[in-house]
Amino acid sequence: MKKTKKDISRELGLEAGSICGKYFLKLEHLHYGYWTGDIEIDIANLHIAQDEYAKFVISHIPDGVKTILDVGCGTGQIAKKLLDMGYQVDCVSPCPFLKKQASELLGNRSHVFECFYENLQTVNRYDMVLFCESFQYIDMEQALSNTNKFLKSGGYLLICDIFRKGTLDKTFMGGGHSLTKFYNLIAKSSFRLIENVDITEQTAPNMDLLDDAMESVVRPVVSAGVRFLESRNPITLKLLRWKYRKKINKAHKKYLEGRKTGENFKKYKSYQLFLYKRDAQVSSR
Ligand SMILES: C[S@@+](CC[C@H](N)C(=O)[O-])C[C@H]1O[C@@H](n2cnc3c(N)ncnc32)[C@H](O)[C@@H]1O
Repeated sequence: MKKTKKDISRELGLEAGSICGKYFLKLEHLHYGYWTGDIEIDIANLHIAQDEYAKFVISHIPDGVKTILDVGCGTGQIAKKLLDMGYQVDCVSPCPFLKKQASELLGNRSHVFECFYENLQTVNRYDMVLFCESFQYIDMEQALSNTNKFLKSGGYLLICDIFRKGTLDKTFMGGGHSLTKFYNLIAKSSFRLIENVDITEQTAPNMDLLDDAMESVVRPVVSAGVRFLESRNPITLKLLRWKYRKKINKAHKKYLEGRKTGENFKKYKSYQLFLYKRDAQVSSR
């Protein structure tokens, strides 16, 4: 599998998010915050909510698991927590920037495979494969068949991620596989459901925070930039507006129309933790 333009822009987005998040908001992770009732919903508390998310996911690792493959490990912070707790952890990261961060953080305690999960080749077999907000980026059929391959007999699959509830204009609120398609696929697989927790309510506030940041920061900064160009170089501005009209309309629709709210997130999305166990009799090849 080769990197597409979409993969590259997604990687750049995650890279920029990681750099800005760390600098401005002390964020260590790349996932949503898990807003327990006692954390005030404020962007300054996002790092606390992200830590709660990590704790929530880790608390669902079944007893007996010793070795974990963390697929899409981001900055490596969850893997580090797991290593510190005594698990053996390997990671997968297709993004060179994030792979470097994770490798530096984890040192020789973990092997970080730099590749798409779809392309992973290893003889290692794990007690659990973890997808922490990374499942949405991977073709579901490939994710499940690879997981089948890399799990030990009777191993676990833990997914914590966003899914789409129905048909929806993706430009308005992208992200997540169709929940219905996921249920259909997993029903035909060798994975048996052990646990399912819906955390849509606890993750929806992230959208309100994003919406607020767009309204309070991005919109005024963009319009100040436009006014500056208008006063200095109106012809260049006109040309740029015309040349990039489709992209501008798309970005406007996606980020500035004020529809990316927690309320809409709850309406169209579903944030789920799924824990599955692979049937013991299924061979690993
Ligand atoms: C939203 S971040 C989550 C990172 C981390 N798991 C966390 O919880 O902070 C998504 C991660 O998925 C990774 N990713 C995207 N496409 C992938 C693929 N095809 N195979 C493996 N990882 C992928 C990205 O590089 C990134 O690390």
